Amino acid sequence: MNGQTTTIDQTEHWKARDQQAVWHPFTPLAESNQIIPVASAKGCYLHTADGRKILDGISSWWVNLHGHSNEYIAKAIYEQALNLEHVIFAGFTHEPAIRLAERLLEILPDNQSRIFYSDNGSTAVEVGLKMALQYWHNQGIPKKKVIAIEGAYHGDTFGAMAVGDRGPFTAPFHPYLFEVDFVPFPTASNTHSLIHAFTQLVQSGEVAAFIYEPLVQGAAGMRMYEPDLLEELLKTAKSNQVLCIADEVMTGFGRTGKLFASEYCRTQPDIMCLSKGLTGGTMALGVTSCSEAILDAYRTDDRMKTFFHGHSFTANPLACAAAHASLDLLLTEECTQNRERIAERHRVFAQKITGHSSVAEVRSRGIILAVEIRTQTATSYFNEIRNNLYAYFLSRNLLLRPLGNIIYLFPPYIITDAELDWVYREIEELLDKMLGE
Ligand SMILES: Cc1ncc(COP(=O)(O)O)c(C=O)c1O
Repeated sequence: MNGQTTTIDQTEHWKARDQQAVWHPFTPLAESNQIIPVASAKGCYLHTADGRKILDGISSWWVNLHGHSNEYIAKAIYEQALNLEHVIFAGFTHEPAIRLAERLLEILPDNQSRIFYSDNGSTAVEVGLKMALQYWHNQGIPKKKVIAIEGAYHGDTFGAMAVGDRGPFTAPFHPYLFEVDFVPFPTASNTHSLIHAFTQLVQSGEVAAFIYEPLVQGAAGMRMYEPDLLEELLKTAKSNQVLCIADEVMTGFGRTGKLFASEYCRTQPDIMCLSKGLTGGTMALGVTSCSEAILDAYRTDDRMKTFFHGHSFTANPLACAAAHASLDLLLTEECTQNRERIAERHRVFAQKITGHSSVAEVRSRGIILAVEIRTQTATSYFNEIRNNLYAYFLSRNLLLRPLGNIIYLFPPYIITDAELDWVYREIEELLDKMLGE
């Protein structure tokens, strides 16, 4: 009883201090009193300061691969910290960064040839965009346009925002975002018109790059499209000398059923952006890889053609050590089987609830499952139903963070069958309850 009182007191104390001192992402200030203090996390669970155990069904914003507080990764970070915690990465290098670059190049598509480090997904995208634009600049070729896909989300820095969907999140900044040509989201029914519009754009000769989230648009609501449609776009872009930038920040490291979603296509991207799962969700690290052809534009004696970009924490050794440990785990047979097991169970569950009257659509690819709730209002992040769903699942000790009326599941690969069954039951129960309303 006493212990309970202490933890509840502690929770309130943390919340009060948090409200005074901290500004949280994507959170209206008026709602900062709803923040949940987490004391620790282990495996699939978050342990709150007031003693709750919440299943992390979204891998804490899509970063966690192997469960929280993984001992193997923690040990790797600890050992690295005793040896070399950080060093400036301009003019210096270190084994964890070199080895990680080598290992990534072994598993990335064949044409990827060099690794540029930064420290999160948005910076990986910024680097990719700048790398592509300067590729043309260095050669004196006046290509300035960028194509992106409607609904895209590539991060919150200015370049990343510019190539993302224009909406309420970006509205205050619209005057400052560079112009981008957005093509419609690929579907089976718009293939013809999309390819036509895309071809016209790339044939203008003015397009420097095409940036896309391969096969799954995450923030747009886990919207999925087929590899053959992407293949068509990539082929068309390449044959018109347009650089292709695959933003695999969310899809990378096994989320879609292959290590990288780009593997579903024959045509390989020129540039790839990675982060999130890279360190198993433990440390902030971003990677932008590129092909030999990109490097060629920077191989010159003209120092003004250097890629002048860098961050203080570029290639942080602790983050690289974490990435090594995460890769060790990711590439085991056990982890591969886990991903296949989750994907198969998602497929079975998706089939089961397809046709449910509360469901507009169910889709799954790899370990990602998305259930679109039937609603009168349009599908959007600000859909009223979103806050209710979020609160409902939290009250059941399940962290799902619906995107508008889309509930999605994006679990760590260690989630068990029993835990999956429980989550599916919770979702189904919710769907049934909605019927009664
Ligand atoms: C596809 C994609 N690109 C880039 C980002 C930005 O990554 P970060 O939040 O690490 O800046 C995200 C984040 O959700 C993403 O989903």
